[in-house]
Amino acid sequence: MSSVPELETTTIEALPGPDGWPLLGNYLQIDFREFHRQLERWSERYGPTYRFKLGPQVFVVTSDIEAGSVLLRERPELFSRRRALEQIFDELGFNGVFSADGDDWRRQRRIVITALNSARLHQFYAKMLDTTHRLRRRWESAAEAGSAVDLCADLMRYTVDITTQLAFGIDFNTLETDGPVIQHDLDKVFPMLNRRLGAPFPYWRLFRLGKDRELDAAVGAIRARITEIIGECRARIARNPVLLQEPENFLEAMIAAKEAENVPFSDDDIIANVFTLLLAGEDTTANTLAWAIKYFTDYPAFVARMRTEVDQVLGESVVPPTHDTAARLGLIEAFANETMRLKPVAPINVFEAKVDVDVCGLRVPAGTALILLTRRIATSAEHFSHPTEFDLDRWLDRSPGSDRVHNQKAFTPFGGGPRFCPGRNLALLEIKMVLAMLLRNFDVELANDGAEVDELFAFTMSPTGLYVRFRHRA
Ligand code: HEM
Repeated sequence: MSSVPELETTTIEALPGPDGWPLLGNYLQIDFREFHRQLERWSERYGPTYRFKLGPQVFVVTSDIEAGSVLLRERPELFSRRRALEQIFDELGFNGVFSADGDDWRRQRRIVITALNSARLHQFYAKMLDTTHRLRRRWESAAEAGSAVDLCADLMRYTVDITTQLAFGIDFNTLETDGPVIQHDLDKVFPMLNRRLGAPFPYWRLFRLGKDRELDAAVGAIRARITEIIGECRARIARNPVLLQEPENFLEAMIAAKEAENVPFSDDDIIANVFTLLLAGEDTTANTLAWAIKYFTDYPAFVARMRTEVDQVLGESVVPPTHDTAARLGLIEAFANETMRLKPVAPINVFEAKVDVDVCGLRVPAGTALILLTRRIATSAEHFSHPTEFDLDRWLDRSPGSDRVHNQKAFTPFGGGPRFCPGRNLALLEIKMVLAMLLRNFDVELANDGAEVDELFAFTMSPTGLYVRFRHRA
C-alpha cells in the first residue's frame, strides 16, 4: 500500500454520507444538471469528507485542502482521472491528453505544454489582436441593431477561433461565419459526457437513446472536420518541410513527432488531441468570460475602476495593442480571479485511486473515485475573509494584517500539480483582451427579461440563458 501523510486511519465505510438504494446507490437523489451544487449541499450536511454511490461506484467527496493537495500532486503515480472517463473518450475516439494516463499522458503533455507556452503566445499576439477586433465588430453590429446577444455563443466563437489558429494554424473565423459552425457539434459533447459519467451502468453499450444518436452524429461531424484540418496541416508541411524540424504549432509538432518516429503517436492520438484542445479551449474560457460579464452588470463601481485602468493602459487603442499592455491590466486580472473563485467553470475535480492508498488518514482502495470540491474550498471562511462577497480588492491588498488576506492554496480554478491546466496563460490573455475591449468600447446590460441567470453543470459549469445588450460606450 502506498502512503501519503497519515493522521488517524479511517475507512470509507466509516464516513458519513446520504443513504442510497440497492443497485442504484444515490443516483435518484442527483439532478446531474446541478451535480456540483448537490455535492456542495451534502458537504454542508455531512462535513468536509463524505461518501456516496452511483450504481456500484463508490465516491469520496472532500473539501479538505490537505487531501486536495495530495490528490492534485500525486499524479500520475497514485491517482488518475476516472478510468470511466478514459473509456468513454476512447469509445468516442477522443482519448487525448486530458483523459490519458501514465506514459501516454507524459508524451502528449510535453507537446501541449510547448505549444501553449509564453513564447508561443507572444508570437501569436497579432492573431489574437485580429480575432479580438472581429469580436468587437460583431458586438458593434449588435449594438447598432440593438439586438440581444447570446453571450456564451459569441464567446465560444471567439475561443474556438483563437484555439484553432494557435494550436492548428487554421483560421475557422466562426466569428464572421453566418452558417453552421463547429461549436454546434462541440456543444453536444460535454452534456453527454456528464450524463454517461453519472449513469449507474453503461446503457449506451447496449442500446442508443435519441441523445446518444445525436452525439454519434455530432462526433462524426467533428471527426470529419478534424480529418480535414490534419490533411491541411500535412499539405502545409509537404510545401514547407522545415516545419518538421521547427513546428510552429501543436498539430505540426504532433505530426512531426509521428513522422520522426521518436514518439509512438498514432493518427488516432493526433485526432484525439485536436479534439481535446478544441473542447478544453472552448467552453472553459468562454464560460469564465460570460460569468465575468454577468458580474459587470452587478458591480458598476468595479467596472468604473477597471475602465480607468483600461483607458490609461490602452491610450488611443480600442484593444490592448501589445502583449505587454495586456500584462498591465491588474484590475481585470483581479476581477477574473474573483469571477473564477465564485463561478469556476470546474467547481469540482475528479480523480481515481490507482492503487490502495492512504489519503490524510483515509484508507482508499484502488478504483475508488474521489471528488475535490474546489469551489467549496475557495468559498470557505477558513481560507477567504467574507468569502461569499465579490471583492476585487482581496487580490490587490497584500498588506500584512489586512482582513482581505487569503490562502492562495485554496484557489485552484486551473487545478494543480503535474496535470495543472496548460491553457491557463492563454485563457487569462483571452480574458484580459475581451474584457478590456468591452470596457473600452461598450456599455453592457442584461437582456434576460428578468429571468435569473442560473448555473448549469454539464462537465463544465456555465450560466444559463445569459443574454446581454451592448451599447456604444457613453
Ligand atoms: C478559464 C479557462 C480555463 C479553465 C478554468 C481551465 C481549467 C482546467 C482544469 C481545472 C483542468 C484540470 C487540471 C487538473 O486536473 O489539475 C484543466 C486541464 C486542462 N486544460 Fe484547462 N482550463 C481553461 C482553459 C484552457 C485552455 C484555453 C486550454 C487549451 C487551449 C486548456 C487545456 C487544458 C488541457 C489540455 C488540460 C489537461 C491537462 C492534463 O491532464 O495534463 N484549458 N483545465
